[in-house]
Amino acid sequence: MRTPVAIIGAGPAGLLLSHLLAGRGVESVVLETRTRDYVEARIRAGILEQSSVDLLTAAGLGERLRAEGDRHRGIHLQWPGERHHLDFVDLIGRTVTVYGQTEVQKDLGRARDEAGQPILYGVRDVALHDLGTDRPYVTFVDADGHEGRVDADVVAGCDGSFGPSRAAVPDAARQTWERTYPYSWLGVLADVAPSTDDLIYAWHPDGFALHSMRSARVSRFYLQVPAGTDVAAWPDDRIWQALDDRLGLSGWTLGTGPVTEKSVLPMRSFVQQPMRHGRLFLAGDAAHIVPPTGAKGLNLALADVALLAPALAGLLRGENRLADTYSDTALRRVWRCTHFSWWMTTMLHTGDDPFDAQLQLSQLRWVTGSEAGARGLAENYAGLPIDFAE
Ligand code: FAD
Ligand code: DHB
Repeated sequence: MRTPVAIIGAGPAGLLLSHLLAGRGVESVVLETRTRDYVEARIRAGILEQSSVDLLTAAGLGERLRAEGDRHRGIHLQWPGERHHLDFVDLIGRTVTVYGQTEVQKDLGRARDEAGQPILYGVRDVALHDLGTDRPYVTFVDADGHEGRVDADVVAGCDGSFGPSRAAVPDAARQTWERTYPYSWLGVLADVAPSTDDLIYAWHPDGFALHSMRSARVSRFYLQVPAGTDVAAWPDDRIWQALDDRLGLSGWTLGTGPVTEKSVLPMRSFVQQPMRHGRLFLAGDAAHIVPPTGAKGLNLALADVALLAPALAGLLRGENRLADTYSDTALRRVWRCTHFSWWMTTMLHTGDDPFDAQLQLSQLRWVTGSEAGARGLAENYAGLPIDFAE
């Protein structure tokens, strides 16, 4: 099989890249290890920055997002006895939208179907070859057990944190940074109407808690738990009690309902640079991971491919400029979001150092009490403009 662009991974980065390339008249083939059902049901992120909404809308993917996405003016920040609202519209004139990654994934899948895009699901043994030449290729075994090969002009590594693309860059040609955290998130999905208008990020001595949502009838919660926690240690009663303890405020009631999904999500920061090696271009989680506090991971993946699509289209026409600057340009946003995610994480997750706790509370009071502090958070949370680094 021959194609201009071989895309590894059919997550949001891979599928949006394929869609944006098609809009520029560039064909691609997408390889994915999982099944389509699995990819579309995987519960992950839920918040789209305004730039991501604008990007998806401009790409013709905004219809259901506009109808079903829930626009929010801001967030609540809380610590015991106090809840403060940060209004992003007042502060910086921007909003965020609650729209699950599952829905982004389905919209992208449908758009690719309509375009007749070849997506090979259920492949295995994906390997990248000859990336230092202008004739790279990818080998794999398809869902029926047959060996396959895609010859391409460029390979886009959109295969997330566990795919082979990142490691296809030789050690001597890459630099990596990593930070692990001593806690994880217990993510909980429940059939209950949200008990809040905007998301609540709560600092608490027992650990951080987040009240998010997916729709008028479905709530999403996260609880800080120690790294390595077994989900079996968290029966539903314990979850509701912990959420009530950590989110509780006099005069406010947490609604409860059947828990439909729960899982433990490890947290880490990771960046690999450059995001290009020869004819391999990395995008999304394949190049960088952020801890989820602040909801940057999905948005960052979308922003990468918004840069990458015109860069690859140009490269294939013999214009190298955007391809040559892709890595540096993308990394400016990556590092901004890496810092913001680390900052939100370390401001809100508690440990056993009483000095740290006082610093966190002081910072929370500053962020909620000073317009400059609130604006800084709002600017990063609601998202930098898509051309932030261009
Ligand atoms: P992915 O979505 O990971 O897509 C990569 C794709 O590549 C996957 O479909 C994978 O199956 C495929 N793949 C892997 N290996 C291969 C291979 N060898 N060959 C072919 N394909 C391969 N972000 C937030 O902002 N908020 C959240 O609440 C949040 N929760 C998360 C929960 C979990 C469990 C995880 C893992 C991530 C979460 N994230 C969250 C991060 C966010 O979901 C990611 O940043 C986003 O999915 C990145 O998109 P991507 O396309 O780069 O990578
Ligand atoms: C969600 C996830 C986040 O990481 C976050 O900061 C806010 C909301 C969510 O899944 O709804």
